[in-house]
Amino acid sequence: MLVDNYGRKLDYLRLAVTDRCNLRCTYCMPVGGLDWIRKSELMTDEEMLRICSLFVEMGIRRIRITGGEPFVRKDLIKFLEKISSLAALHELTLTTNGVVTAPFVPELKRIGVRSVNLSLDTLDKERFIRIAHRDELDNVLRTLDALLKYNVEIKINAVVMENLNIEDIVPLVRLSKSLPVSIRFIEEMPFNGGSYQAGLHWNYKRILAHIREHFPDIQKIPDAPNSTSYNYHIPGHLGNVGIIAAWSRLFCGTCNRIRITPSGIIRTCLYDNGKVNIKDILREGASDEGLKEWIRHIVSTKAKDGWEAEKNRDNHEPVHESMATIGG
Ligand code: GTP
Ligand code: 5AD
Ligand code: SF4
Repeated sequence: MLVDNYGRKLDYLRLAVTDRCNLRCTYCMPVGGLDWIRKSELMTDEEMLRICSLFVEMGIRRIRITGGEPFVRKDLIKFLEKISSLAALHELTLTTNGVVTAPFVPELKRIGVRSVNLSLDTLDKERFIRIAHRDELDNVLRTLDALLKYNVEIKINAVVMENLNIEDIVPLVRLSKSLPVSIRFIEEMPFNGGSYQAGLHWNYKRILAHIREHFPDIQKIPDAPNSTSYNYHIPGHLGNVGIIAAWSRLFCGTCNRIRITPSGIIRTCLYDNGKVNIKDILREGASDEGLKEWIRHIVSTKAKDGWEAEKNRDNHEPVHESMATIGG
């Protein structure tokens, strides 16, 4: 079992399979894209599989596949099939922007992916283009339909941005009236590749107050253990509403996560800057036991919370890497 210095049991691995993406969301990366990780620096399927199986041997029970956009990676389904066969793994999930995901939904269902987190910041075509710099809303909605049709549990992620999608909050909440989805509003974090200055105009309190103005009956419901979101229900609605205080970092105390970036850097917090590249150690010929030793060591360095992790960064500069290179 992986336990950090604060007694937190880490059983949830977030694996980023690529930094590339077919959208250019303002809050994530510049319109011109990123300085993409070279192919030779990306983990191969075999490397990811070996690393994941070691993590599972060490007590990881949930793996979430992230990116960039996971489906931009070639043969993702084949890789998911292999990962899902790791016997002790309880849950395989993924986070996607939904642009090319719809046709893969039946395959996801067959593999046993029960739950998908879908990014959707607006229901308006023009605003979608302003936020993501691509005209892809129809394809994302096609993915939403396919997930509903195949009965995959859906969490919708909407990053809340001043001047960009405030008018979308209420229409997105309304989706939960007739759809069995959890629609989650996320505080904007500064992980945008340095392209623009994120300012936290909309923290979790303001988001909730805004929703409450329009839905005064909204009620708090219990949160799952280790949940990133505070969850709410509006009487008469089929789905739920959540708020993720990603910038305020209110859920660090129960954090059970560890991350691997697309190039193999292990990060024990979204806000740290990762010092050990497990793929490089593997390529130097490390044994399974040697790799596990490293993993145990890294886990022992996990910061108490995102504030401490940020303070301990090497350059002490404010964070601004893209979420796509960290892997959400
Ligand atoms: P579940 O696995 O279903 O709990 O979803 P999740 O909320 O962890 O994952 P998702 O990939 O949908 O991310 C939603 C938002 O939460 C994104 O903005 C993430 O970056 C943010 N988030 C996820 N994990 C962490 C974390 O450890 N710390 C912080 N501050 N934000 C996180
Ligand atoms: N702040 C908050 N959330 C972000 N995401 C990407 N970049 C940011 C950011 N700067 C979200 C995406 C996706 C999830 C993995 O992370 O919307 O749903
Ligand atoms: Fe792509 Fe996700 Fe970043 Fe948007 S947030 S540009 S969908 S990786």
